[in-house]
Amino acid sequence: MTPGTLHGLHGDVRVLGDKRSVADAGAALIDRLASTAAAQHGRFSVALAGGGTPRLLYETLSSGAWRDRIDWSRWDVYFGDERACPPDDAASNYRMARETLLDRVPIDAARVHRMEADLPDLDGAARAYSALLEAALPRAATGAPRIDCILLGMGENGHTASLFPGTEALAVGDRWATRGRADYAPYDRITLTYPAINAAANVVFLVTGAAKRDALRATAAGRTPSAGVAPVDGALEWIVDRSAAGGEV
Ligand code: 6PG
Repeated sequence: MTPGTLHGLHGDVRVLGDKRSVADAGAALIDRLASTAAAQHGRFSVALAGGGTPRLLYETLSSGAWRDRIDWSRWDVYFGDERACPPDDAASNYRMARETLLDRVPIDAARVHRMEADLPDLDGAARAYSALLEAALPRAATGAPRIDCILLGMGENGHTASLFPGTEALAVGDRWATRGRADYAPYDRITLTYPAINAAANVVFLVTGAAKRDALRATAAGRTPSAGVAPVDGALEWIVDRSAAGGEV
């Protein structure tokens, strides 16, 4: 167990009972952020997280009360990262988002912006995604495209999106998307960069499970890529369950 506490985490930290509670709180927060953004500037831009944790959140948003309550016509959907695989591959974050959310709610397909990490030229695809973000979004004071809400997970080594420890993507300061390199397959990725993530109006981490306990503490101690997430002019929220928090509340 990594010593230390969660008190070093920046932003607002909520520790909830279990992953169901995390998904419910995430849905309520996203509903609020979407309504606020739509009222302020007519649209809601959201970058979806990949991996397994957000599945329950997406399924919650796309079913029952939330599905009927949310004005999906205001949404513009982006991705925090994508694996270098076909969009219908079981490893694809895009496929996961389609299965759990995008195919279940009335969002115009033209407003879903997939990272084309299946293309052979990953660097070119990352440049194209940077250009897409620049063309579609307002700019933050830093000059980076400003996404209303970026959802993030965190790996057991403290990576987030596809910003993995010791990789070149961590140092990219002049682009909004870049090639990433994971330490598990699919190894090649496209990921948002720190400048893009830290330009967001809201960044929301969803972290559940005892396996993330050490990474959460290491992040609180500033020792992981997730610790590099610090919105310049935005809100940072951590919604974690008790298992990941290690009993801290
Ligand atoms: C990915 C994700 C990645 C994920 C973490 C946590 O493409 O894998 O973007 O950053 O959020 O690895 O994954 P789990 O939620 O599956 O633990």
